[in-house]
Amino acid sequence: MTIQVGIPEAAWVFLSDMVDNVVAMNDSCKEVVILAHKDGLYNGQNLVDEEAVAWVSTAFASRGHHVSILWVDEPQRVHEWRYPPVVRKAVEGCDLLINTSWQMPVEEIADFRQHAEESHKNDPYRMSAEGRKHFPHHPDRQPKDCTDYDSGTWFVRLFPVTAALMMTEWAQTPSELVYMVRHISSEPFMALNEPTLFTMTDPNGTILTGYTINPTKREGIPGMPYDSWRKDSSHYLPVPEWVHPPINCTHVNGELYFDCMLPWWSMYIGIEPYWEEPIHVTVEDSRMVAITGGLEARKLYAFLKEMETKVGDKIWLFDTFHFGIHPNAHVTRYECPHDIYRRTIEHSDCCNVHWHIGSAGGRPGYNFYPHITGDLRHCTLKVGDKMVYDNGWLCCQDDPRLAEIMKKYPGRPGIPVNPNTLTEMKR
Ligand SMILES: [Fe+2]
Repeated sequence: MTIQVGIPEAAWVFLSDMVDNVVAMNDSCKEVVILAHKDGLYNGQNLVDEEAVAWVSTAFASRGHHVSILWVDEPQRVHEWRYPPVVRKAVEGCDLLINTSWQMPVEEIADFRQHAEESHKNDPYRMSAEGRKHFPHHPDRQPKDCTDYDSGTWFVRLFPVTAALMMTEWAQTPSELVYMVRHISSEPFMALNEPTLFTMTDPNGTILTGYTINPTKREGIPGMPYDSWRKDSSHYLPVPEWVHPPINCTHVNGELYFDCMLPWWSMYIGIEPYWEEPIHVTVEDSRMVAITGGLEARKLYAFLKEMETKVGDKIWLFDTFHFGIHPNAHVTRYECPHDIYRRTIEHSDCCNVHWHIGSAGGRPGYNFYPHITGDLRHCTLKVGDKMVYDNGWLCCQDDPRLAEIMKKYPGRPGIPVNPNTLTEMKR
């Protein structure tokens, strides 16, 4: 029997924000399933600890929900990632899935993403008057033939998956603030009727130009209106919220240099999440025409050639970027010694802009979304006459609407000091 010391206040700040404000299903009892992988307890990729799982369970139980925990043993293999049948059945049997699995992201596993939107389709209870009252919200992405009831299972992708991570400033930042950063950061991209010229540079040598355009729907590729709120778009709730919707572009030209990427793909490419010699991508008319650099560049090129056989020529397209929208998405090695996981968190920081290396959707026989990324950390981005980024600073963080929100959350982490405004003492 382990000694129970209770949930620290710092973690409860995070947990109660998730339960009451992000998920916000407190009006009636719901069936909640927490999904975790056994390997994550033993330095596997699906990092998790038992305290975190127990605390999440306690948080939802404290609001009157039924909580079950599903521990799966599901090693995933490259190009053969599975949506396990036992998880599929759990999604159909619950109203809310809390997914701690790093290897089973809904972004990439298209079967998972699609199934969650229709897992309660034709469910007599959901279609009844009482069911509609208990499940009043039905987002845009659920099937078009069930528009007047909620046909899906809400699913949280839980990023703080250890006790230590739940107590970080990243986790404790108010969700309302992060949602608002995501929302107002879309404003420079909302001139939807005509392409808007952009210029993006980075001190690492990157210089790219092109035009931002409408968030047009592309087959097999997740996306949503730039200014949409998560709950109106789909049943997917990343916690904490992590990225702005992808920005579609056209006529992109220039050079991209990068030395880090989203680690889900770097791991399958066979490279570390960070590396020394930058990968250099040359772009001509929204297409990658050269990939040079060191070992990582050669491995990336070989992987893209392999992907071409699976998803076709669009793997060479270069026409989409977006960016993190969390003002405090960075943790120390003490808080998270796991390199892959720490890089995943950093990917969602406001300073992290990423280009999609390839712009292909999944296809029959390969129902996975390729989301290989090239990440910049210090970019300057001008869209039309608006400065969106200034040397890694997402400029909308200075917006007074954010300061207004923080008045409601005294003592909680908010917008940090702009590092570009700090001066050095010189003697
Ligand atoms: Fe992306």
